[in-house]
Amino acid sequence: MILVTGGAGFIGGNFVLDWIANSDEAVVNLDKLTYAGNLETLSSLSGSAKHVFVRGDIGASDLVDKLLLEHKPRAIINFAAESHVDRSIHGPEDFVQTNVLGTFRLLESVRGYWSGLPADQRAAFRFLHVSTDEVYGSLSPTDPAFTEENTYEPNSPYSASKAASDHLVRAWHHTYGLPVLTTNCSNNYGPFHFPEKLIPLMIVNALAGKPLPVYGDGMQVRDWLYVKDHCSAIRRVLDVGKLGETYNVGGWNEKPNIEIVKTVCALLDELKPRADGKRYAEQISYVADRLGHDRRYAIDARKLERELGWKPAETFDSGIRKTVEWYLANGEWVRNVQSGAYREWVQKQYASEVKGAT
Ligand code: NAD
Ligand code: DAU
Repeated sequence: MILVTGGAGFIGGNFVLDWIANSDEAVVNLDKLTYAGNLETLSSLSGSAKHVFVRGDIGASDLVDKLLLEHKPRAIINFAAESHVDRSIHGPEDFVQTNVLGTFRLLESVRGYWSGLPADQRAAFRFLHVSTDEVYGSLSPTDPAFTEENTYEPNSPYSASKAASDHLVRAWHHTYGLPVLTTNCSNNYGPFHFPEKLIPLMIVNALAGKPLPVYGDGMQVRDWLYVKDHCSAIRRVLDVGKLGETYNVGGWNEKPNIEIVKTVCALLDELKPRADGKRYAEQISYVADRLGHDRRYAIDARKLERELGWKPAETFDSGIRKTVEWYLANGEWVRNVQSGAYREWVQKQYASEVKGAT
């Protein structure tokens, strides 16, 4: 089996659902269930023998040591992190705690477990660390896209904490020989995305008749990838990635934020027109900029294509349409997130399965 950390979050949740749909191998899912962890995302797996959920912290060494010995995973995919840049600006400590210290403790637990494996299992073992393009810093409009050779220049508390975690992973490979792989991905979007991030926030605010807050001039550029494509890239790297290597993952979809917001508005105009006949774009409201806001990210994903044969399946047009349709069809998931009911639901639905440290 494999161990996934942070598998109740947006990308981890999509990854667990895809894995179980496409593989016979079971998943142990270790997640602390912070505000971003939502077991309702995994409700279709309730009762499945292929999914073992454990509530716990990647930094709780006793728990992680015990889980590793009990389940003997052949691979670990580390999604667990504090992931929201704005939250990192308001309160960086949780980011250092989980992304830096948590990753360090997880690496130490994994190193202990891996060292004790028989030689063949030690050779086959993999630790895949899921990271971000934000570690490379910000690009000017004319700079080439980030390659794996770019230097690390993180600018926010979030990206600095992720950069630190990447360095730890690299060092555990170089020093101890731990068989690691690292992926650095661009902005994801798709189903089960917590509505604090740009795309889901714009969809739910638009439908609620609320303002659509665009930071600064709205001309910051991000490179968007449909979440299922990120999941397929991770599976590919896990299967055939070269040990100790990093792989950039991106969708070749660079777009300014204001264009993303207008695209979401246009899709909603088509799929769920406003009752008053007006356009959703009328709700756009320019607000104060994010502190230290990175101007542009862009990913050069050619190494992953050239060496491992991966390419995204979705275009931005197909992925964003699927995403808006998903939010329209899953109003209950959204309402439960907004009301906080998803956290009560966790207690009720998973009381017997939730164990371990919090
Ligand atoms: P998310 O915030 O939606 O989910 C994070 C999950 O980790 C949550 O379920 C949370 O409960 C869990 N978690 C947090 N702290 C934990 C801890 N100490 N121990 C165990 N579990 C903990 O994040 P996401 O958007 O799904 O991102 C997943 C990973 O992918 C992160 O490492 C992030 O840096 C990286 N990433 C995200 C994006 C993106 O666009 N969302 C892009 C590139 C990379
Ligand atoms: O690049 C990968 C990163 O993408 C991941 O590592 C992060 O975990 C993920 O959160 C995401 O970071 P961003 O800061 O790029 O995503 P966010 O959705 O918060 O913001 C996207 C852009 O939209 C950014 O330029 C800020 C802007 N924005 C965001 C929000 C929430 C707005 O203009 N208005 C908003 O209300």
